[in-house]
Amino acid sequence: MSCNGREFIPFHTPQIGDAEIESVVETLRSGWLTTGSKVKRFEEEFSKYLGCSHAIAVNSGTAALHLALDAVGIKEGDEVIVPTMTFAATAEVVLYFKARPVFVDCRPDTLNIDSDQIEKAITSKTKAIIPVHFGGQPCEMDQILRLARKYNLRTIEDAAHALPTSYQDKKIGTIGDVTCFSFYATKTITTGEGGMATTENPEWSDRMRMMSLHGISHDAWKRYTKEGSWHYEVLYPGFKYNLTDVAAALGIEQLKKCDGFWRARKRIAAIYDKAFGDLEEIQTPVRRPGIEHAWHLYVIQLNLEGLRLTRNQFIEALREEGIGTSVHFIPLHLHPYYRHKFGYKPADFPNASSVFHRIVSLPIYPKMTEADVESVIAAVSKVIKQNHRL
Ligand SMILES: Cc1ncc(COP(=O)(O)O)c(C=O)c1O
Repeated sequence: MSCNGREFIPFHTPQIGDAEIESVVETLRSGWLTTGSKVKRFEEEFSKYLGCSHAIAVNSGTAALHLALDAVGIKEGDEVIVPTMTFAATAEVVLYFKARPVFVDCRPDTLNIDSDQIEKAITSKTKAIIPVHFGGQPCEMDQILRLARKYNLRTIEDAAHALPTSYQDKKIGTIGDVTCFSFYATKTITTGEGGMATTENPEWSDRMRMMSLHGISHDAWKRYTKEGSWHYEVLYPGFKYNLTDVAAALGIEQLKKCDGFWRARKRIAAIYDKAFGDLEEIQTPVRRPGIEHAWHLYVIQLNLEGLRLTRNQFIEALREEGIGTSVHFIPLHLHPYYRHKFGYKPADFPNASSVFHRIVSLPIYPKMTEADVESVIAAVSKVIKQNHRL
């Protein structure tokens, strides 16, 4: 792509190699397109990779969150704690049950849920908490799990950004009651669209598997195989959330590269840190000790007091320089639905409301060349220099 005669560096492009293409083609040729042996293998490889007992592949991270809430028994009228600094999916799944997502503000530095503010949001109706590992940095799980034990809450981790991530040497995916990953096109590994739920609990695992395919009795997908039978029984009104073998074929190959992709992103993060570390106008991502960051996102915060332009103008200026960026996220309480339905105001979540005007996500993905990374640094430095407030 070109911009003003120069190459455009998009915010993200996936890294799809020959192995992925061959694996998908082989699956297409096999004649088995929907859920089958490839999905089973993807689940097995995924649970081996994380060291978890059960992994259930589904067709999106949102589906994984929905099934997780169903498995732990969320009901109409329940409350579920959700950070406001997240994507729509984290809260909408709570609303599927006619339950209420109760928002909590973020930490101003890590942008993760502020664990110190969770307890005051808990009521007698609270049944679960959904920590979101923002950008790939794990939340303060010790504090969150302590609160979950104290108030008998289920912990459903939204790990859409957190593959691979660890908290105190434990991989995310092995800590909470259920952990939900996303393989959306921009995520750290991709199946185009897809997701995975992991758990140590066999009953929740069985429930999620069954509900992911119409609530039909065990191994329904086998009914068109030699070992399968035409007979099936609907035990509950379930959903249509199964992953296809075509997508799993992609996922199996992407998973093999997960650590390599991670090292590449980590290297880019370190280069950005060094390049922007001395710029007063930019705060680089803050991370806590004792964690490994997935570096799904590299979110800078602009010191607007030192600049003569807004965040939106900064994004436009970078676009002019040929650099694609994004914003993660527009906090949920600022969206019309949540403002109108629950009466939320910006002042209810001052940290998220304030950082929202300062955050910019820079490109960070394995396909970036060293020259791409240098171009991003040069463009950011130029825009900052040109708009320095004297
Ligand atoms: C924090 C977060 N949670 C959940 C999701 C939903 O994942 P999916 O798009 O796979 O449904 C996303 C992104 O897409 C996300 O960023």
